[in-house]
Amino acid sequence: MTLWEGRLGATAHEVMAFTASIGFDRRLAEDDLAGSRAHVRGLGRAGVLAMEEVASLLGALDRVDEELASGSFVFHPEDEDIHTAVERRVTEIEPEVGAKLHTGRSRNDQVATDLRLWARRELLAVAGRVLSLQETLLRRAIEAGDAYLPGYTHMQRAQPVLLSHHLLAHGWALARDVDRLVHSVDRLDVSPLGAGALAGSSLPLDPDGVAEDLGFTGRFENSIDAVSDRDFVVEALFDMALLGVHLSRLGEEIVLWSCEEFGFVVVNDAYATGSSMLPQKKNPDVAELARGKAGRLIGHLTGMLVTLKGLPLAYNRDLQEGTEPLFDAVDQVSGALVALDGLVSTADFVTEKMSEAAAGPQAAAVDLAEWLVAHHVPFRQAHELVGSLVRDSVERGVPLTELVHAHPSLGAEALSVLEPGVAVTRRTSPGGAGPVPFSVQLERFRQRLELDSQRVSHAREHQVRHGSSGAGSAGSGVAASGGGSEAGADCSGR
Ligand code: ARG
Repeated sequence: MTLWEGRLGATAHEVMAFTASIGFDRRLAEDDLAGSRAHVRGLGRAGVLAMEEVASLLGALDRVDEELASGSFVFHPEDEDIHTAVERRVTEIEPEVGAKLHTGRSRNDQVATDLRLWARRELLAVAGRVLSLQETLLRRAIEAGDAYLPGYTHMQRAQPVLLSHHLLAHGWALARDVDRLVHSVDRLDVSPLGAGALAGSSLPLDPDGVAEDLGFTGRFENSIDAVSDRDFVVEALFDMALLGVHLSRLGEEIVLWSCEEFGFVVVNDAYATGSSMLPQKKNPDVAELARGKAGRLIGHLTGMLVTLKGLPLAYNRDLQEGTEPLFDAVDQVSGALVALDGLVSTADFVTEKMSEAAAGPQAAAVDLAEWLVAHHVPFRQAHELVGSLVRDSVERGVPLTELVHAHPSLGAEALSVLEPGVAVTRRTSPGGAGPVPFSVQLERFRQRLELDSQRVSHAREHQVRHGSSGAGSAGSGVAASGGGSEAGADCSGR
């Protein structure tokens, strides 16, 4: 039985197979139930449903919730999507009043509502996982103490930097990801329910009350926009694509640092993989996959933008194509976050190798030039002088220290700048890579992390208060059977 059998003859089998979304949108079950409860209460307040009818429908929805949670809910082959399945079952439980559930509502405003509720919760859970990784980076940065390594530009050794400073560089990029996720959640926090198919309804609906009931900040202003808009999906996909790019860059460095040529890091056995053929291998597959996932995440973003670009208003079935990428992006980025968190948490940094790589006098070339600047030599001249000494050293194979010592404008005092480990301590400017500015940075990072944790937990508490937290309701059981892997992620987040 289809929802349109009054109008159309039987739907071809292949058409159902091609158009159905139940295979993946059953993950929306708890949000669909939350939306239905709010809708039913709204119809009650508006006097469209009698209070007894509201009570029976809410009872039936609770039963569906229990069945979904316990796994006893039986999906039918003709359940095209989660909305149809829930309505079908409610109507089986309460045949009379079940037929009133969809009053003044369309699957168009329904799916938009479900997706917003889902995205609101899951994006904050992703933010929680980002915060965990940031905390790990912070802990590793503190543990790194005064260890230093070469900083690179163009993949050439440039200047020594504290390992802690390098680790927090990744931490700050992630801070922007948390900020973006929180802002995206703020923007998507608008209820589309009450927009109907596209134009609202002749019935006295109460979209404001329904929005409040669902914990949304407000309701849509334009019914056509409400059902057509998937900006929030695009934004979520962008946030996760960029987060994925950040994880990819971190992953790439771990790959690089763990190779024998660098040897800066030894990945813990639990976060490495072996080879089926080469007995000696220890491979950084976690870091590589974290890098690889970025391609997929970027694909989801571009795919969704292309899906939307030619769509006329209002709802078109193309919009259904946004649901799976959204689920997949959350799963993949969550899996990468959790795995990388464990990897970073347990890896051994080989600080002797790092300092050895940064100990050569050339790493302090700019410090020598700046020493000259402090002795009233214009920088351009200082740069040229030091550059020519380096060239001389390379071409004639004479140690740079010897040339510096012998040079009339430099000598023994200048030489001290080139001592291993000295250059990094000379990075004193605010935000710089030396210990003095780093202590300030560390404190600011700590404060920022604390603040962001509070922002994320406040937003999550707000949802819990409005009953769409997912804890203990149909969501968890349904998600597992919905074909969406949870990617090993702790979906309760923080
Ligand atoms: N499964 C559909 C989706 O995800 C629900 C909306 C269907 N609406 C319709 N007019 N066919 O978009």
